[in-house]
Amino acid sequence: SPLDVLAVYRLAPVIALGRVEDAAPLAEALVVGGLPIAEVTFRTAAAAESLRIMADCGDVLPIAGTVLTKDQASAAADSGARMVVTPGLNPVVVEHVLKLGLPICPGVCTPSDIEAALSFGLEVVKFFPAEAYGGVATLKALSGPYPMMRFMPTGGITPANLSSYLALKSVVACGGSWMVAPSLYEGGDFGPVERAVREAVTLAKP
Ligand code: 3PG
Repeated sequence: SPLDVLAVYRLAPVIALGRVEDAAPLAEALVVGGLPIAEVTFRTAAAAESLRIMADCGDVLPIAGTVLTKDQASAAADSGARMVVTPGLNPVVVEHVLKLGLPICPGVCTPSDIEAALSFGLEVVKFFPAEAYGGVATLKALSGPYPMMRFMPTGGITPANLSSYLALKSVVACGGSWMVAPSLYEGGDFGPVERAVREAVTLAKP
Protein backbone atom coordinates (compact mmCIF):
# COMPACT_ATOMS: atom_id res chain seq x y z
CA SER A 1 0.00 0.00 0.00
CA PRO A 2 1.12 3.62 -0.40
CA LEU A 3 1.63 3.91 3.36
CA ASP A 4 3.97 0.91 3.27
CA VAL A 5 5.98 2.61 0.53
CA LEU A 6 6.20 5.77 2.65
CA ALA A 7 7.34 3.69 5.62
CA VAL A 8 10.19 2.30 3.53
CA TYR A 9 11.49 5.62 2.21
CA ARG A 10 10.49 7.65 5.29
CA LEU A 11 10.23 10.78 3.15
CA ALA A 12 7.46 12.42 1.13
CA PRO A 13 8.63 15.14 -1.24
CA VAL A 14 5.99 17.89 -1.25
CA ILE A 15 5.84 19.38 -4.73
CA ALA A 16 4.25 22.63 -5.94
CA LEU A 17 4.51 22.58 -9.72
CA GLY A 18 3.95 25.80 -11.60
CA ARG A 19 4.50 24.28 -15.05
CA VAL A 20 3.21 20.97 -16.36
CA GLU A 21 6.41 20.70 -18.46
CA ASP A 22 8.42 20.23 -15.28
CA ALA A 23 6.44 17.18 -14.13
CA ALA A 24 8.24 14.51 -16.18
CA PRO A 25 11.82 15.71 -15.54
CA LEU A 26 11.01 16.18 -11.85
CA ALA A 27 9.68 12.61 -11.62
CA GLU A 28 12.86 11.40 -13.30
CA ALA A 29 15.05 13.36 -10.89
CA LEU A 30 13.18 11.79 -7.96
CA VAL A 31 13.69 8.31 -9.38
CA VAL A 32 17.38 8.86 -10.16
CA GLY A 33 17.89 10.42 -6.72
CA GLY A 34 16.40 7.30 -5.13
CA LEU A 35 13.04 8.59 -3.89
CA PRO A 36 10.25 7.35 -6.21
CA ILE A 37 7.42 9.21 -4.45
CA ALA A 38 5.73 12.48 -5.49
CA GLU A 39 3.20 14.38 -3.41
CA VAL A 40 1.82 16.84 -5.94
CA THR A 41 -0.03 19.64 -4.15
CA PHE A 42 -3.31 21.07 -5.42
CA ARG A 43 -2.04 24.61 -4.93
CA THR A 44 -1.31 25.30 -8.54
CA ALA A 45 -3.39 25.13 -11.70
CA ALA A 46 -0.88 22.59 -13.03
CA ALA A 47 -1.52 20.09 -10.21
CA ALA A 48 -4.02 17.64 -11.73
CA GLU A 49 -2.25 17.35 -15.06
CA SER A 50 1.17 17.13 -13.41
CA LEU A 51 -0.11 14.38 -11.15
CA ARG A 52 -1.41 12.50 -14.19
CA ILE A 53 1.99 12.74 -15.88
CA MET A 54 3.67 11.47 -12.71
CA ALA A 55 1.14 8.61 -12.44
CA ASP A 56 1.45 7.70 -16.13
CA CYS A 57 5.24 7.52 -15.98
CA GLY A 58 4.71 4.55 -13.65
CA ASP A 59 7.99 5.05 -11.78
CA VAL A 60 6.84 7.20 -8.84
CA LEU A 61 4.11 6.71 -6.26
CA PRO A 62 1.63 9.49 -7.13
CA ILE A 63 0.12 11.21 -4.08
CA ALA A 64 -2.22 14.21 -4.15
CA GLY A 65 -1.43 16.87 -1.55
CA THR A 66 -3.21 19.98 -0.25
CA VAL A 67 -6.59 18.52 -1.20
CA LEU A 68 -9.21 20.88 0.25
CA THR A 69 -12.46 19.85 -1.45
CA LYS A 70 -14.38 16.83 -2.68
CA ASP A 71 -13.90 18.07 -6.26
CA GLN A 72 -10.14 18.20 -5.84
CA ALA A 73 -10.18 14.71 -4.35
CA SER A 74 -12.16 13.42 -7.33
CA ALA A 75 -9.78 15.18 -9.74
CA ALA A 76 -6.85 13.63 -7.90
CA ALA A 77 -8.36 10.15 -8.18
CA ASP A 78 -9.05 10.73 -11.90
CA SER A 79 -5.43 11.75 -12.37
CA GLY A 80 -4.24 8.48 -10.86
CA ALA A 81 -3.42 9.48 -7.29
CA ARG A 82 -2.88 6.43 -5.07
CA MET A 83 -3.32 8.42 -1.86
CA VAL A 84 -4.60 11.80 -0.67
CA VAL A 85 -2.97 14.13 1.85
CA THR A 86 -4.83 17.12 3.32
CA PRO A 87 -3.55 19.97 5.51
CA GLY A 88 -6.49 19.67 7.93
CA LEU A 89 -9.12 17.14 8.87
CA ASN A 90 -12.30 17.96 6.97
CA PRO A 91 -14.78 15.12 7.65
CA VAL A 92 -16.55 15.80 4.34
CA VAL A 93 -13.32 15.34 2.40
CA VAL A 94 -12.21 12.35 4.48
CA GLU A 95 -15.49 10.53 3.85
CA HIS A 96 -15.37 11.31 0.15
CA VAL A 97 -11.80 10.04 -0.25
CA LEU A 98 -12.60 6.84 1.65
CA LYS A 99 -15.62 6.35 -0.66
CA LEU A 100 -13.28 6.76 -3.64
CA GLY A 101 -11.34 3.84 -2.18
CA LEU A 102 -8.14 5.77 -1.58
CA PRO A 103 -6.12 6.02 1.62
CA ILE A 104 -6.15 9.48 3.18
CA CYS A 105 -3.62 11.08 5.48
CA PRO A 106 -5.31 14.18 6.94
CA GLY A 107 -3.50 16.95 8.73
CA VAL A 108 -3.86 17.15 12.50
CA CYS A 109 -2.25 19.21 15.24
CA THR A 110 -4.48 18.70 18.31
CA PRO A 111 -5.83 15.83 20.40
CA SER A 112 -9.33 16.58 19.06
CA ASP A 113 -8.10 16.25 15.47
CA ILE A 114 -6.49 12.91 16.32
CA GLU A 115 -9.72 11.65 17.87
CA ALA A 116 -11.63 12.66 14.75
CA ALA A 117 -9.09 10.69 12.68
CA LEU A 118 -9.46 7.68 15.00
CA SER A 119 -13.24 7.82 14.58
CA PHE A 120 -12.69 7.31 10.84
CA GLY A 121 -10.46 4.33 11.57
CA LEU A 122 -7.37 6.14 10.28
CA GLU A 123 -3.99 4.88 11.48
CA VAL A 124 -1.67 7.49 9.99
CA VAL A 125 -2.13 11.28 10.04
CA LYS A 126 -0.05 14.21 8.92
CA PHE A 127 1.20 16.37 11.80
CA PHE A 128 0.98 19.82 10.26
CA PRO A 129 2.50 22.37 10.48
CA ALA A 130 4.96 20.35 12.51
CA GLU A 131 7.59 22.88 13.52
CA ALA A 132 5.13 25.70 14.18
CA TYR A 133 3.04 23.43 16.44
CA GLY A 134 5.94 22.48 18.66
CA GLY A 135 7.76 19.85 16.61
CA VAL A 136 9.22 16.76 18.20
CA ALA A 137 8.21 17.73 21.77
CA THR A 138 4.55 18.07 20.78
CA LEU A 139 4.58 14.81 18.82
CA LYS A 140 6.02 12.97 21.83
CA ALA A 141 3.32 14.45 24.08
CA LEU A 142 0.56 13.47 21.61
CA SER A 143 1.78 9.88 21.57
CA GLY A 144 1.03 9.58 25.32
CA PRO A 145 -2.75 9.25 25.00
CA TYR A 146 -2.64 8.04 21.38
CA PRO A 147 0.10 5.37 21.16
CA MET A 148 -1.83 3.72 18.32
CA MET A 149 -1.59 6.75 16.03
CA ARG A 150 1.28 7.15 13.58
CA PHE A 151 2.37 10.44 12.06
CA MET A 152 3.79 12.04 8.97
CA PRO A 153 5.19 15.35 10.30
CA THR A 154 5.34 18.05 7.66
CA GLY A 155 5.93 21.78 7.69
CA GLY A 156 9.32 23.20 8.55
CA ILE A 157 11.18 19.90 8.24
CA THR A 158 14.74 20.43 7.00
CA PRO A 159 17.91 18.34 6.70
CA ALA A 160 18.82 19.76 10.13
CA ASN A 161 15.80 18.44 12.04
CA LEU A 162 14.75 15.45 9.89
CA SER A 163 16.60 12.84 11.99
CA SER A 164 15.06 14.03 15.25
CA TYR A 165 11.58 13.34 13.85
CA LEU A 166 12.51 10.04 12.22
CA ALA A 167 13.96 8.85 15.54
CA LEU A 168 10.42 8.74 16.99
CA LYS A 169 8.67 5.35 16.80
CA SER A 170 5.40 7.12 16.01
CA VAL A 171 6.78 8.69 12.84
CA VAL A 172 6.18 6.79 9.59
CA ALA A 173 7.77 9.37 7.31
CA CYS A 174 8.41 13.09 7.11
CA GLY A 175 7.06 15.39 4.43
CA GLY A 176 9.13 18.22 3.08
CA SER A 177 9.53 20.50 0.10
CA TRP A 178 13.19 21.40 0.43
CA MET A 179 14.53 18.76 -1.98
CA VAL A 180 12.04 19.68 -4.70
CA ALA A 181 11.96 23.47 -4.27
CA PRO A 182 11.26 25.26 -7.59
CA SER A 183 14.39 27.37 -7.04
CA LEU A 184 16.44 24.18 -7.55
CA TYR A 185 15.23 23.71 -11.14
CA GLU A 186 14.23 27.17 -12.32
CA GLY A 187 17.02 27.12 -14.90
CA GLY A 188 15.68 23.86 -16.37
CA ASP A 189 18.52 21.76 -14.98
CA PHE A 190 17.23 19.07 -12.64
CA GLY A 191 20.70 18.04 -11.41
CA PRO A 192 20.33 20.08 -8.19
CA VAL A 193 17.03 18.28 -7.44
CA GLU A 194 18.71 14.92 -7.98
CA ARG A 195 21.50 15.84 -5.59
CA ALA A 196 19.16 17.26 -2.94
CA VAL A 197 16.99 14.15 -3.19
CA ARG A 198 19.99 11.85 -2.86
CA GLU A 199 21.19 13.73 0.23
CA ALA A 200 17.71 13.59 1.78
CA VAL A 201 17.49 9.84 1.10
CA THR A 202 20.85 9.31 2.80
CA LEU A 203 19.70 11.30 5.84
CA ALA A 204 16.45 9.33 6.07
CA LYS A 205 18.15 5.91 6.00
CA PRO A 206 17.73 4.17 9.37
C1 3PG B 1 2.88 20.99 2.93
O1 3PG B 1 2.03 21.39 2.15
O2 3PG B 1 2.86 19.86 3.38
C2 3PG B 1 3.91 21.96 3.38
O3 3PG B 1 3.80 23.19 2.75
C3 3PG B 1 5.29 21.47 3.23
O4 3PG B 1 6.00 22.13 4.20
P1 3PG B 1 7.47 22.64 3.94
O5 3PG B 1 7.41 23.48 2.71
O6 3PG B 1 7.80 23.43 5.19
O7 3PG B 1 8.36 21.45 3.77
